[in-house]
Amino acid sequence: MVQNIDQTKTQSSFPGFPNSWFRIATSGELPPKKILPLHYLGRDFVLFRADGTPRLLDAFCPHLGAHLGYGSTLQGDTIRCPYHGWRWHGTGRCVEIPYLDKQLPQVQIQTWPVREVNGLILMYYHHQAQLPDWEIPAVPELSSSRWTPLKSVRRWQVQTTLKHYMENSVDVSHLSNLHRQTFSSAKSLSLEANGPILTHRMAQKYNLSSLAAGKLIDEDGGVTTIYYGPAYDVSYYWTQGRIKLELLTIFTGTPVDQTHLDIEIFFSVKKMLPSPLNGILTGLLKRDVAHTFEQDLPILENRVDLDHPIVYEEDGPIKASLRWANQFYPVSPEPEG
Ligand code: FES
Ligand SMILES: [Fe+2]
Repeated sequence: MVQNIDQTKTQSSFPGFPNSWFRIATSGELPPKKILPLHYLGRDFVLFRADGTPRLLDAFCPHLGAHLGYGSTLQGDTIRCPYHGWRWHGTGRCVEIPYLDKQLPQVQIQTWPVREVNGLILMYYHHQAQLPDWEIPAVPELSSSRWTPLKSVRRWQVQTTLKHYMENSVDVSHLSNLHRQTFSSAKSLSLEANGPILTHRMAQKYNLSSLAAGKLIDEDGGVTTIYYGPAYDVSYYWTQGRIKLELLTIFTGTPVDQTHLDIEIFFSVKKMLPSPLNGILTGLLKRDVAHTFEQDLPILENRVDLDHPIVYEEDGPIKASLRWANQFYPVSPEPEG
């Protein structure tokens, strides 16, 4: 049967943005007294660090609409608009109008919950601005001296959707094809959903020839990926055998708008070797993670969204993962095929 594929359908069937936690900056990007204008989730925000705590407000001053991310100043836990000097507390209240001797207006700027975890600054988005009922936990390895400090691999602006990004992440059968330089084989072992958390375990044979000067080395290993909502996941990779490696990554995908994702991958390596060798190994692994993900980019940027994809069990738990991701969206899409 010839399939009639709608070639115009590159938009995700997930409408709107999920209610979830999103990486919006790194701690290093927000030193004390820093003010950052941000555009994510189709909105403009201002992020600032007053008195040590990151604060996230909608960007526009309710007085006459100036963007608080450009030219404002911080004073204690307040931000002063550059235009007429109105001062707004980190909780969104107006606390001063410098030239007015009347009662202050009872307006508030919309504020958004922010946490600083694992050296990342995360916001909780909810389409009705409700407060979160779950949190992103700290990764214990990152406070251990046996692991390298969490570093960014790279950051990309990608024309794709969270749905395709998530689907790609649990797609097992593409690993030994598109990424055959790294994966000789991959098999999904289990998928476990627990509220906002999804755990996917895989067994893999890693091709370590890029680490072994081109010598073909296959090592058994695995990866466990823990998703905290659809936009943040922590993966633990290991090999067992002659070469023993342990690596962890944090993948973050924050929608800029309905069709673009701001993706940043972070990584940490368990220090298995003496320090100069460990540095070399860390550099090689970073290069490999970036290269592997960059192979996905032309696929993500140019694919369509099929109404009736043909998915086998061997492709990985694609449908089950998307069903899990549904829960974060305000309006559930039609169930897939
Ligand atoms: S626009 Fe902000 S104080 Fe007037
Ligand atoms: Fe991939």
